[in-house]
This record gives sequence, C-alpha cells and structure tokens, in this order.
Amino acid sequence: MTHLLADGLVDLQLDPKLAWYLTRSSGLVLLVLFTLATVLGIASRVGQAGRWVPRFVATDLHRRISLLAVLLLVLHVLSSIADNWATITYLDAVVPFQGSYRPLWLGFGTLTLDVILAMVGTSLLRHRMPPRAWKAIHLSVYAVWPVAVLHGLGTGSDTRKIPVLILTFACVGLVLLTVGWRILGAPDRLRLPQVATLVALPLAPLLLASWVLGGPLAPGWAKRSGTPPPPSSTASEPSPSPAGAK
Ligand code: HEM
Repeated sequence: MTHLLADGLVDLQLDPKLAWYLTRSSGLVLLVLFTLATVLGIASRVGQAGRWVPRFVATDLHRRISLLAVLLLVLHVLSSIADNWATITYLDAVVPFQGSYRPLWLGFGTLTLDVILAMVGTSLLRHRMPPRAWKAIHLSVYAVWPVAVLHGLGTGSDTRKIPVLILTFACVGLVLLTVGWRILGAPDRLRLPQVATLVALPLAPLLLASWVLGGPLAPGWAKRSGTPPPPSSTASEPSPSPAGAK
C-alpha cells in the first residue's frame, strides 16, 4: 500500500511547466478561497452580522466557497505531484513532514489537507456522529488556516514577489480583523482568553513579517527550506524549477 502511494497509484502525465504553473496559481487562489471561507464562517457567528449581511447569506456563501476550495485543493495536490521536479509523492501529500521536498513547509500543507479531509468525511457522517465531535473537527479547520498560510509562504516560488506578499498579508489582515470583530461583537463573553487574543492580534502580522524577512525573503531559503538539488546540478544552491525560481 505504502509503495503504491509513494510510487503513484496513477502516474500523472502532465507537462512539468504546466504542472508547476497550475500548482502556483491554484495555491494562490486556494489561499484566497480558504481565507474567504474562514472569514465567512466566523462572520456567520458574529452577533450583529445580520446588520450587514444576512446570516443565511454568510452561511450559504461559506458552504459554497468551502466546497470550491476543496475541489481546488484536489487540483493543487495533483498538479504538485505531477510536477516531477518537486519529487512529491502521493504519500507526501497525505503524511506530513516525511517527504524530500521542503518537508516542514510542504508538511504544513499536508496537515491542512488531512484536517480538511477529516472535516469532509465527518460532515458526510454528521448525522451519525456526536454533535460535539463533529463541531470540534469542523472548528479545527479554522485552526489550520494559519498553518496553510505558512505553507504557502514557505513552499511558494512566488513568495518574493510583491503582489503575492500583498495578497498574503491582505488575507492575514482580513482574518485577524474578523476575529477581532467577532470578539468585540460579544462583549458579554469577554474573558481573559478573548482579551489576550485581542492584544495578540496586531502582533501576529508583525511576527509574520519578521519571519518572512529572515526566512523566505532571505538569501538561501530554497536550500535551508529543504529543496533537493536537481540530479544534474553540482551547484550548492538548488537551481530553478523548469520555468523559473523555485
Ligand atoms: C488548504 C491547503 C493548502 C493551501 C491553502 C495551499 C496554498 C498554497 C500557496 C498559497 C502556495 C504558494 C504559491 C506560490 O507562491 O507560488 C502553495 C504552494 C505549494 N503547495 Fe500548497 N496549499 C495547500 C495544500 C497543499 C498540499 C496538501 C500540498 C501537497 C502536495 C501542496 C503542495 C504545494 C507545493 C508543491 C507548492 C509549491 C509550488 C511552487 O513551486 O510555487 N499544497 N500552496
């Protein structure tokens, strides 16, 4: 079973350049969809959400966007496996932190996939499950949203590009604002954890920015993050992927 997964149940035949473009573009759209799904999920629980957007609209949009994100995630994973340069196997896509390609940062994506798969599976079995267990798994998807952000920044070929950085930080800002809005929307429930979260919210983008500057934007990130050198290269820094700068 393991070798089947590792070697590929289906050998995806896709032009490597196309696969690479697909992985990058689907990753960025996925980040936006995952962010919107998270924001709408939180917004649908905010007390006064109905003043701006009727709650059923937020809930319905949350469901539709989440479904779209799951479909796109399948494409994102398959195209990354089809990109032979990155040497990602089916096993790497489902078992976190054990592959040869940027194991930690790819593992964060894999972890997100596993939680989303658990969410989809338990949603299908929802009526046969204790509601508390279903809710705990559903809520854990919100918890892996930051993990997916780190995956994108740590694995992406486009992290150094200004529009991609703006997009990522806009997504982060949007989620943080929604979390703040949700906490302030229920002042009667303001306890120590909520106050601590409110204090931590503005610090999160600063911490992220300082990590990005010292990590993905600093020279040598490809090597430090665990990009295997291409077989034919003797250079110490891995050379770019088919079309550009991995
Ligand atoms: C919800 C989960 C995920 C999200 C939101 C996500 C999002 C992203 C984003 C934003 C990028 C950066 C694109 C770029 O800057 O070029 C990216 C890159 C990548 N992702 Fe994911 N990803 C997810 C899960 C996964 C999984 C499960 C895999 C496993 C196979 C994966 C494989 C990759 C690879 C290989 C890249 C690097 C592509 C490149 O060379 O730029 N991702 N992802």
